[in-house]
Amino acid sequence: MDLLAIGQSVMVQRSNGETHRATITRLNAERDIVSVQWTEADGDKGKDLLLDRIIETNPEIFAPKAVVPPAPTKTLSQPQPQPELQPLPKPQPQPQSESQLQVEVTTPTPLLLPEDPQKPDTETLVRYFRKQLVLHPLVAVGLSGPMKASGIMVCVRKRPLNPKEVAAREVDVISLQPPNMLVVHLLRLHVYREPTLDHQNFCFDRVFDENCSNAGVFNYTARPLIRHIFEGGWATCFAYGQTGSGKTHTMGGVVEGKNQNVMDSIYAMAASEVFSIIQEPESAERNLSVGCSFFEIYNTKIYDLLSPGNKQPLRLQENCQYQMEVMDLIECPTSGTAEVLALLNTGNGARALGKTSANEKSSRSHAIFQIVLRSAISKETYGKFSLVDLAGSERAVDNFSSNSQTCTESAEINKSLLLLKECIHAMGRKSSYIPFRDCKLTQVLRDSFIGKNVKTCMIATIAPGMCSVNSTLNTLRYANRVKELKVQAPVVPPMPPLTAQLSKVLESDATEKRQAADPIGDIPTYTLDGQIYCSLCSQPVTCMPVLCPYFGLSNKKPQ
Ligand SMILES: Nc1ncnc2c1ncn2[C@@H]1O[C@H](COP(=O)(O)OP(=O)(O)OP(=O)(O)O)[C@@H](O)[C@H]1O
Ligand SMILES: [Mg+2]
Repeated sequence: MDLLAIGQSVMVQRSNGETHRATITRLNAERDIVSVQWTEADGDKGKDLLLDRIIETNPEIFAPKAVVPPAPTKTLSQPQPQPELQPLPKPQPQPQSESQLQVEVTTPTPLLLPEDPQKPDTETLVRYFRKQLVLHPLVAVGLSGPMKASGIMVCVRKRPLNPKEVAAREVDVISLQPPNMLVVHLLRLHVYREPTLDHQNFCFDRVFDENCSNAGVFNYTARPLIRHIFEGGWATCFAYGQTGSGKTHTMGGVVEGKNQNVMDSIYAMAASEVFSIIQEPESAERNLSVGCSFFEIYNTKIYDLLSPGNKQPLRLQENCQYQMEVMDLIECPTSGTAEVLALLNTGNGARALGKTSANEKSSRSHAIFQIVLRSAISKETYGKFSLVDLAGSERAVDNFSSNSQTCTESAEINKSLLLLKECIHAMGRKSSYIPFRDCKLTQVLRDSFIGKNVKTCMIATIAPGMCSVNSTLNTLRYANRVKELKVQAPVVPPMPPLTAQLSKVLESDATEKRQAADPIGDIPTYTLDGQIYCSLCSQPVTCMPVLCPYFGLSNKKPQ
């Protein structure tokens, strides 16, 4: 099973004897089952296969030459291979400063050139690193207090390799260690030395892997914010990332053929949660009504997506409560999820789309779906939730159009995202001047950042492939800045060189680890807003067992 990886292309045999290529989507090592997916004329197909069947149809992957790691003396750049795993250094708490919080720890691993059949290629090294990560999880140093307290939460979602990337034999260079750590593997070429694989580490409030569904992302991102609007607060959840990284997939729903399945979108899940909370006796006492609006910012102009026939740009104005308001924006009163789904379908259909090298259906505008709670009698705004699907950040090379309209679009998108970043920087510096006025996007989002009772969640979406690694690093650095993390990048155990001997040690170590995974006591916790959190790492304790980087594994219920 170790020779297989999610995203890898393998041959599969159909019941009629026909064989074809398919992509691995899941690996179940306990049951020796490999889930695969492939595309046919009528859509995506998938099935679960026993490992034995995969071995039968893919002998080249399991041939001994590929399995046996290289001999230490020939292949390793370090002259003295170590026979055993070195004990891990204890994480040393270090004094924190703002600049340290942004630093990414880099641990180079000797990389061996793939042209030599005896030497492992980048993919093998990345897989080897992942195995290390299971045995010796990363540890965040200086983690203190509830991460939620800052009012801004930053999560990262990694999408799977898409069929185009799989066909191009792209290597997945992002390793995640849930709940909150992420490693980017980078190939560094040197003039006089062997190339090396560097690892850059990040820590966020939560990371979601390629198998996580939109519902899973919703549970940890938008869902906690909905209670906040019922307490009279302002909430914003926005998706940010490179073009084609999955912002629209996350916020607006999975694209199935020509249509978008809005039922599976964070927009719809948020609305459905609002309708379920409004039924609760406590909310019923407040006598609130729900209204929805949906608009886009395209080339510095605001357009109402719920009035697709009317392509008149709308004005933005500060109201008497000093809040930014889009004038004449349609706000549809809604009383159930079905009505919201109809609105979302109308809005998505009206949205400006284009094409980039990374995405056939690229959003060329920032879309904002708002759920507004109003007092049913006075009609005053009680709480507001803005869900934002930003247009993709893109480099000029990602956009192959020489059309002047497309170039203007791209320039406007990049400018607005840059200004959003400027505002975030200024807020981070506690600057007296924050340049919100400089573009429509920051004007619209102003109240989400500096209002009195605001909570914000950023979902940074990233592509896993090596060819996207620079854009991915840009997104992660942007996300880091938004977070103003209270924790340092995780500590990475030093990587011993990969040898045949070491592979055996790893095998036995893994067995021991599995046996040792017994409850080791009560995990210390605290409760905030009715949710239990681990006091050591601040991750929510929703179900057992809990794996805390400080405490280890606890199967016992918290007191
Ligand atoms: N988590 C995911 N799982 C499966 N497929 C995904 C995932 N995220 C994105 N995709 C697929 O990747 C493609 C691009 O996604 P999407 O349109 O959401 O990107 P985007 O970030 O909105 O790009 P742009 O900025 O260009 O609008 C789509 O075909 C989508 O279905
Ligand atoms: Mg999009």
